[in-house]
Amino acid sequence: MVQTISEATSVADTLERMKQLLGRLIPEAELVLKAEVAYEINRLKKEKKAVILGHNYMEPALFYSVPDHVGDSLGLARIAQKSEADRIVFCGVRFMAETAKILNPERMVLLPAEVAGCSLAASITAEDVRKLKEQYPGVPVVTYINTYADVKAETDVCCTSSNASDIVRKLDSDTVICLPDEFLARNIAKETGKNVIYPGSERTGKDDMIIWDGRCEVHEQFTVQDIENARRQFPDTVVIAHPECPPEVVEAADYSGSTTAMTSYVKNSEAKRFLVLTECAMGDNIAAENPDKEMLRLCSIRCPHMNEITLEDTLKSLREDVYQIEVEEALRLKAKKSLDRMLEMST
Ligand code: 13P
Ligand code: SF4
Repeated sequence: MVQTISEATSVADTLERMKQLLGRLIPEAELVLKAEVAYEINRLKKEKKAVILGHNYMEPALFYSVPDHVGDSLGLARIAQKSEADRIVFCGVRFMAETAKILNPERMVLLPAEVAGCSLAASITAEDVRKLKEQYPGVPVVTYINTYADVKAETDVCCTSSNASDIVRKLDSDTVICLPDEFLARNIAKETGKNVIYPGSERTGKDDMIIWDGRCEVHEQFTVQDIENARRQFPDTVVIAHPECPPEVVEAADYSGSTTAMTSYVKNSEAKRFLVLTECAMGDNIAAENPDKEMLRLCSIRCPHMNEITLEDTLKSLREDVYQIEVEEALRLKAKKSLDRMLEMST
C-alpha cells in the first residue's frame, strides 16, 4: 500500500505527498490544514515512541498520513499484541483499543476520542451472556470482537469478520451460541450449515446456532434495492458487502469479506466499477489507491463512532496522553483467554 506520507520531512513535503495521493478526493484548502496537523503528529509520534494503528474506516487524510499500520479488526489486534511501543494510539473505536489493552497491558493504549462506541458492542451485556449460558448449558459461546471486555470475559472464543466461519467450523461442537450481531451470525450460519435459533426458541437438536439481535447501525441500512439500483444504472458494477449487512444483501452481492478482504478484492479485480457496501470512508480510501477504478458510493451511510476520530483529536491524544484505556486485571485475564483462543485458532 502507498504509505509514504508519514515519512515526509516537512509540512510542505507532507502537503505535496497528500496532494499526489488524495488531490482527486479532498479540496486543496482542506489538505493544507490537514498536512500541518499530520506532520506534527508524525513528529510527536517519534518523540513519544508511539505507534499509531488506523482502522480501514478512518477518513482518507488521516488513514494515509499518520498510521504506522492500517487494517481490519483482526490485523490490528495482531499488531497491537506484538507492539513494543511505549504508546499505542488506536484510531478506531473503543472496543478495538480495549482489545489492544487486553492483549498488551504493558503499553499505554490511547483512544483519541472519549466516546467512540459501536452499536454492536452496546447491544449486549455480560449478564445477557450469562443468562444464555444458563439457558443453553455446555454450548460454546463465540463472540464477535465488536464487544467490551465484560462480554469477552463470558466468552469461549472471539471472532472477527475475517475468521468467524472458520472458528465456528473448528469448534468441537455442532451447536454454538454466536453473539451479538444477528446479521453476521445469520451469514455465518448459512456458510456453515447451521439452523438459526433466537433465544427462547426450541433447539432442533443438531447443528443449531443460537443468535442475538444486535445490529450494526451502519450495515443494517443497506438493501437489495441499493444493489439493484446500481446494477440497473451500471450493469458492470461489482458489488461487495461486509458480512454485517443483512443476509439478503450479502446473498445478492458478488463478494463479502472483512474490510481488509474487501480492499484487497478491489485491488486484485480486473473490474472497473464497484459498489462497496460498508462505511463510506473506506470507499474513498480504496479510490485513492485505485485511480483506474470507480467506486459508487452511498455516502449518507457513515459510522458516527468511527467518525469521532479526527487528525486534531489524534494530535491531542499524543500531546496529552488521552484517553487512556484501562481494563481491571481479573476481567482482562478472563477476556484475554477468548482473544488468545481466537488468535491461536486463526493462524
Ligand atoms: P472488520 O474487522 O472487517 O474491519 O470490521 C470491523 C467493523 O467494525 C465493521 O463495521
Ligand atoms: Fe460498530 Fe457498525 Fe461502526 Fe463497525 S460500522 S464500529 S460495527 S457501528
